[in-house]
Amino acid sequence: MESTERFPALLAEKDQAGFRFGEREITAADLPPGDVLVRVRYSAVNYKDGLASVPNGNVARSYPLVPGIDLAGEVVSSSDGRLQAGDQVIATGYDLGVSHHGGYAAMARLPLDWVVKLPKGLSLRQAMAIGTAGLTAAAGIIRLMREGIDRESGPVLVTGATGGVGCLAVAMLAGLGFTVEASTGKPEAEGFLRQLGASAIVPRAELQPETARPLDRQRWAGAIDPVGGTTLATVLSRLRYGGAVASVGLTAGPAFETTVFPFILRNATLFGVESAYLPMAEREVLWRRMAGDMRPGHLDDLITREIAWRDLPDALATILHGGVTGRIVVALP
Ligand SMILES: NC(=O)c1ccc[n+]([C@@H]2O[C@H](COP(=O)([O-])OP(=O)(O)OC[C@H]3O[C@@H](n4cnc5c(N)ncnc54)[C@H](OP(=O)(O)O)[C@@H]3O)[C@@H](O)[C@H]2O)c1
Repeated sequence: MESTERFPALLAEKDQAGFRFGEREITAADLPPGDVLVRVRYSAVNYKDGLASVPNGNVARSYPLVPGIDLAGEVVSSSDGRLQAGDQVIATGYDLGVSHHGGYAAMARLPLDWVVKLPKGLSLRQAMAIGTAGLTAAAGIIRLMREGIDRESGPVLVTGATGGVGCLAVAMLAGLGFTVEASTGKPEAEGFLRQLGASAIVPRAELQPETARPLDRQRWAGAIDPVGGTTLATVLSRLRYGGAVASVGLTAGPAFETTVFPFILRNATLFGVESAYLPMAEREVLWRRMAGDMRPGHLDDLITREIAWRDLPDALATILHGGVTGRIVVALP
């Protein structure tokens, strides 16, 4: 590609004139350095992308910035023989859409170390239905299983279940044969969640009681929690003996108050999941598994909307208000 060829991008800018977020035309010369030039075909809408599109989201670490922590496309050129022009690739996390131009542009230039070859069995579009959200859900589920939680241990709860991480966790757990309970603040999404494999719906308010008890009735063997806040404290208090919770997000806030009781009386485990800097070897295994034995069921139905990049500002505002059900995939021109 000619370095002067112009292509569309969504750009966040912050300078003396203030914060701006909108359409721009850029060229390959505007892209950061890297080994691999990728023609981006699809990206996705994540909560973190919503934060990168607003002035005080505390996600963008440099400006101007093309947000988009997920991208999938074809290699245009590579300075390293391990990738050839035409190879289909995925990149998620690292500094993408944070301090390195991300997926909301028709082209991206990346370090080779950030790129995963598209595993057999997934299309580029399906890979973006999974994206960072799926990688995070898969990492949490694998860790739960390492902590000894299996299909026989009892039901596993997924909070924020209609969100990106949540719906992928429900679909993957159900596919692995777990009994999955889904907590949501969207009662109208019950059919969607049951279709993905949830066997029970837990209203969000049930996990955000006015006064939390340090220990409550033992209910779940494990949980994937993208919500945080009081929800996480409540889930901990209702874990079964030997249960484990993956803390993966904070849509209800970062702070929570708990006691030592779930840990010292119920042998509970609380662990964190961070997927942006997941080592490449682990990442490749997770992608292969998500194309294989951990493939989310109903993958195409998880894409509740496919939008053009021009519709991104609206979709990003919606996700910041917790208004998205399922995954929004973005088609780049
Ligand atoms: N650790 C990592 O590596 C990693 C990776 C990806 C994402 N994350 C984090 O995980 C979280 C979810 O990300 P996402 O992209 O899946 O976002 P998302 O698609 O917006 O999903 C979040 C869901 O949380 C629920 N929710 C929203 N506001 C809430 C509130 N006040 N109280 C309780 N529930 C609420 C909603 O689901 P319901 O309506 O169904 O309740 C919402 O759809 C974010 O905090 C994100 O930063 C972390």
